Amino acid sequence: MEFRATEISALDWSGDAVGIGLFEDAVELTGPMAQLDEKLAGSVSDLIADAEFKGKEGSSAVTRTPKGSSIRKVILVGLGKPESLKLETLRRAAATMAKLAKKEKSKSLALSLPVFQDSADQTAAAIVEGVELSLYQDNRFKSESEDKGSRLESVDLLGLAGSEAAISRARNVCAGVFLARQLVAAPANACTPITMAETAQAIAAEHGLELEILEKEDCEKLGMGAFLGVALASDLPPKFIHLTYKPEGEPRRKLGIIGKGLTFDSGGLNIKGAGSGVEMMKVDMGGAGATLGAAKAIGLLKPDVEVHFISAVTENMISGKAMHPGDILTASNGKTIEVNNTDAEGRLTLADALVFADKLGLDAMVDLATLTGACVIALGDDYSGLWSPDEKLAGELKSAAEVAGEKVWQMPLEEKYFEGMKSVVADMKNTGPRPGGSISAAMFLKQFVDKTTWAHLDIAGPVWSDKESGYNPPGATGYGVRTLVNWVMS
Ligand code: BES
Ligand code: MN
Ligand code: ZN
Repeated sequence: MEFRATEISALDWSGDAVGIGLFEDAVELTGPMAQLDEKLAGSVSDLIADAEFKGKEGSSAVTRTPKGSSIRKVILVGLGKPESLKLETLRRAAATMAKLAKKEKSKSLALSLPVFQDSADQTAAAIVEGVELSLYQDNRFKSESEDKGSRLESVDLLGLAGSEAAISRARNVCAGVFLARQLVAAPANACTPITMAETAQAIAAEHGLELEILEKEDCEKLGMGAFLGVALASDLPPKFIHLTYKPEGEPRRKLGIIGKGLTFDSGGLNIKGAGSGVEMMKVDMGGAGATLGAAKAIGLLKPDVEVHFISAVTENMISGKAMHPGDILTASNGKTIEVNNTDAEGRLTLADALVFADKLGLDAMVDLATLTGACVIALGDDYSGLWSPDEKLAGELKSAAEVAGEKVWQMPLEEKYFEGMKSVVADMKNTGPRPGGSISAAMFLKQFVDKTTWAHLDIAGPVWSDKESGYNPPGATGYGVRTLVNWVMS
C-alpha cells in the first residue's frame, strides 16, 4: 500500500473512492464540496438526504456515483462537533473510510479530512495510523488467507502535501505496533522465550541496536532469584533480554522500557482453573511485546535519546520442579519474598528486571505489564492503570497516551496498600488482599526501584480485544507501542 500526500482536492481527484469527513450539523455542502457534488451529478447531496446523514461522530454512508464519473464511490464519515475534534477522531474516521473502501473493493482511495489544530503533520500521521492499523490482518495461523481478492493499493491524503516525512514516521510506528500485535497473538507454542530472544536479535540486526541476552546461568550469577523462581518448572530456558538503542552523539535523555514477558501463565501450582481465562494467557507477554514493538519503531525513527528495552522472559508452568506456594525467593537486590501465590508471578519477574534497569543510570523508566485481573475489574478493557511516585513522569506518560489515543488512568500509589503484603518470615509476600489488588501489585514493584524515576502501566485490560474497535481489529491491539514512542520522542 502506498500513501501519498497531495495538494489536490477531492474536486480534482479521480479514482475508486473518496472519503469525505463532515462535521455534525454542517452537512449542507458549500464551496468545493458543493462543486464536487455538482460534478458527481448530486450523488453526495443525495446520499446525505437518503441516509439521513447528520455527521454524527462514528456515522458513515456510502454510495456509488453515476457511470463515467471521475470518482466511483463516495464514503461519508461523520466527525461530530468541530470543537470536540481530536486526533483520535481523525484516526477513527480514516479507519472507517479504509475499511469501507476495502469492502467496496476499491484499489485507490482519497481522504478528505480537516486539519487538526493547524498541524498537517499530526493530521497525516493520524490518518496513516487509522488506515494501517485498521487494515492489519494476521493470517499466520490460518491454512488459507481470509484476505482474498482486491486490496487497497494507494491512499491519497488530500490537501496534506508536504507531510511526506510525517507519513513515513507514522508507518514506522505502525511497524512497531504490528510486531507487538503479532507477538501477543502468537500462541504459547509459537511464541516462547527462545523466539522472543530471536525477535530481539532480529531487531538488533535490522536496526543497529545493541543486544545482550542473559541466559539462566548469567541470571543466577546476578542473583535473580525471583525471576528464576518463576522459570523453574518450564522446559524452556528463560531469556533475559536487554536491547539498547544509542543515538549518534550525546543522548538528550536515557530512558528504560521494561515489559512483563510471560509467554504463558498457567498460574503455577496455584493453577488457574476452568473459567479463569487461562487459554488467553498467551497475552501475558503483552508488556514485552509492546517493549519489542517500541524497540523496532525507535530503531527505525532514530531519535536523539538512548533507550534500554528490557524483559525477563519465561513461562509460568507446573512440574515437579515448580516453586511451591510458600517458597521464599531472594531477588537480585537482596530482598526476600514469600511466594504466597505462584499466580502473582509477573511481579516476581519484573522485580529482577527493575533492579537490573535501576543500575543503568537512566533518567526515567516505565514498565508495562499484564499484571493483574484486579486492574481489569477496576478500569475495564479500554484503560491501562498508571502508577508513579513521580507526577512529572506520570504527566509525560498521560500526554503521550492522549496523543496516541491510548487510554490510561492514573491510580494511587500509597504506602498503606503495602501493609497487606507484610510477611512473618520474609521481607514481603508477593500477594496482598483482593481489594485494591492492582495497587498492592504496583506497591510490590516499587520495592525493587531504588534510584530511578519510575512508572508502571498495568495493561491487562487493553492488551487484547475480542471485538473490533475503531482502528483495532479483533485480537491483539499492540497497546502501548504508540504511547511509548510518543514518550521517547517528546
Ligand atoms: N497474568 C495475570 C493477570 C492477567 C489477568 C493478565 C487477565 C491478563 C488478563 C497475572 O499473572 C495474575 O495471574 N494475576 C493474579 C494475581 C493474584 C494471584 C494476586 C490475578 O490478577 O488474579
Ligand atoms: Mn499469574
Ligand atoms: Zn501473569
